[in-house]
Amino acid sequence: MKNVIILGASGNIAKHVIDILVKKNDISLTLFLRDKTRLGNKDVSGCKIIEGDVLDVNQLKNAIRGQDIVYANLAGDLETMAKNIVTAMNETGVKKIIFISSIGIYNVPLKSVLKPYRKAADVIEASGLEYTILRPTWFTNANEVDFETTRKGQQEKGSVISQKSLATLITKIIESPENYIRENLGVNKPNT
Ligand SMILES: NC(=O)c1ccc[n+]([C@@H]2O[C@H](COP(=O)([O-])OP(=O)(O)OC[C@H]3O[C@@H](n4cnc5c(N)ncnc54)[C@H](OP(=O)(O)O)[C@@H]3O)[C@@H](O)[C@H]2O)c1
Repeated sequence: MKNVIILGASGNIAKHVIDILVKKNDISLTLFLRDKTRLGNKDVSGCKIIEGDVLDVNQLKNAIRGQDIVYANLAGDLETMAKNIVTAMNETGVKKIIFISSIGIYNVPLKSVLKPYRKAADVIEASGLEYTILRPTWFTNANEVDFETTRKGQQEKGSVISQKSLATLITKIIESPENYIRENLGVNKPNT
């Protein structure tokens, strides 16, 4: 059994990932979020639910202890959040983190809206954890799975990605984390 915690489980992409993971018998899923009513009528009866705030490092530590994989699907003060997650993971001995950032964080000049995404990625990369950072292009609601990835240092490609595609990639990483250690990947729909 693999223990997986989703931080920011009420987020758009997180909800797609939950839909995929709840069907898998070998995953024990913990949902960490500020307000569980934001899950709506989603069937999460098989999940452990923790109401908490990523800005509270003690709540994070308690939630992360014993997990195998942390998947962070957050928005807001991402640099502080990333620092808290790294602290909590180091103190509880959890190694694997999947962190959703954004396309464009290595562009010069850096758009101000992307600064928190860049700072968070820098914190995660410097952490020594077994990270996978994802830098998706703009989300669509298309009911399709069609994506490609670019590595850090390569020119990012594309302009859009379906939420379902990104959720599918995140699920693949959760299933085979050993294939994505210390990767920092752009994600896009091919030929867009
Ligand atoms: N939209 C795009 O086209 C696009 C493109 C590239 C990258 N991105 C980025 O990709 C990431 C994932 O996207 P998304 O659409 O799934 O994001 P989202 O729906 O905005 O979800 C972010 C989640 O973070 C949670 N959160 C915020 N502060 C928190 C805190 N202090 N403690 C616990 N949870 C907290 C929110 O919870 P609450 O429900 O409590 O507010 C929310 O569920 C985001 O960073 C987004 O900006 C988006």
